[in-house]
Amino acid sequence: MGCPGSGKGTQTARLLKHFGSSFGLQATQVFSSGDCLREHINRKTALGKQVEGLLEKGELVPDSVINPMIWDKVERLVKAPEKSFLLDGFPRTVDQAKTLDSQLHEYGKPINFVIDLDVPHSVILQRIEDRWIHAPSGRIYSLSFNPPKVAGKDDVTGEPLTKRPDDNADVFANRLQKYAEATKPLIEYYRNQGVLFQFKGATSDEITPLIIQALSAFLQNKKVAVKSKY
Ligand code: AP5
Ligand code: MG
Repeated sequence: MGCPGSGKGTQTARLLKHFGSSFGLQATQVFSSGDCLREHINRKTALGKQVEGLLEKGELVPDSVINPMIWDKVERLVKAPEKSFLLDGFPRTVDQAKTLDSQLHEYGKPINFVIDLDVPHSVILQRIEDRWIHAPSGRIYSLSFNPPKVAGKDDVTGEPLTKRPDDNADVFANRLQKYAEATKPLIEYYRNQGVLFQFKGATSDEITPLIIQALSAFLQNKKVAVKSKY
């Protein structure tokens, strides 16, 4: 969790890199609801056509559309006992979180570690203006923070980078407002469940080691608990 531009996608990529081969997380999969929606828009699917205007304006997609889209992806992983998963940008409303909880409950695999990124608004508008993406993979670049090796080109494929249509000052203000209205209440929801971990800082470089430390300790304890149980 975290407001638009707080670094969810950036931290997700770093966590995957760091934990990829340890703690049995090699089967970790990531789902970014935003990337998934943008992929539908690029492929011009029926769902893509339905949501394109909402994303352009910075409005949230209705729960009735997003919930089945995510569950379709996540259920396959939940069914495979060896797999774990990271969600980026989902859930984003209390209704989405409750629906997900009840779906995961059936498989005995509740959400167990919620990361909330608390970054000052003063730094994030500049980030959004600097951001370029490789749309097919969701890879994120910043002209000032992590620029591509060749200007305007994706490091892995060499394909052109693009701007997200919702990355401009007006739409960004609406995205921030929607976050405050719909998503902030989730913080209490997860705090009450005892699974919330909040990280505060002005840059992702400050925050990354803090998350790695907390998640390492959490996973280590979990491993010990599982070992002693069986
Ligand atoms: P989504 O794609 O999830 O967008 P968002 O929440 O607005 O967040 P962003 O992706 O913009 O930011 P981020 O936190 O990932 O930051 P990043 O790492 O890129 O959702 C888009 C839209 O889809 C929503 O508006 C909504 O319409 C819809 N949607 C999605 N999920 C939904 C749901 N569950 N329900 C309903 N609707 C939904 O970092 C930002 C930039 O900063 C990057 O360029 C990065 O390189 C740079 N950066 C990172 N760290 C630093 C640093 N330390 N210093 C300088 N730059 C940095
Ligand atoms: Mg993102």
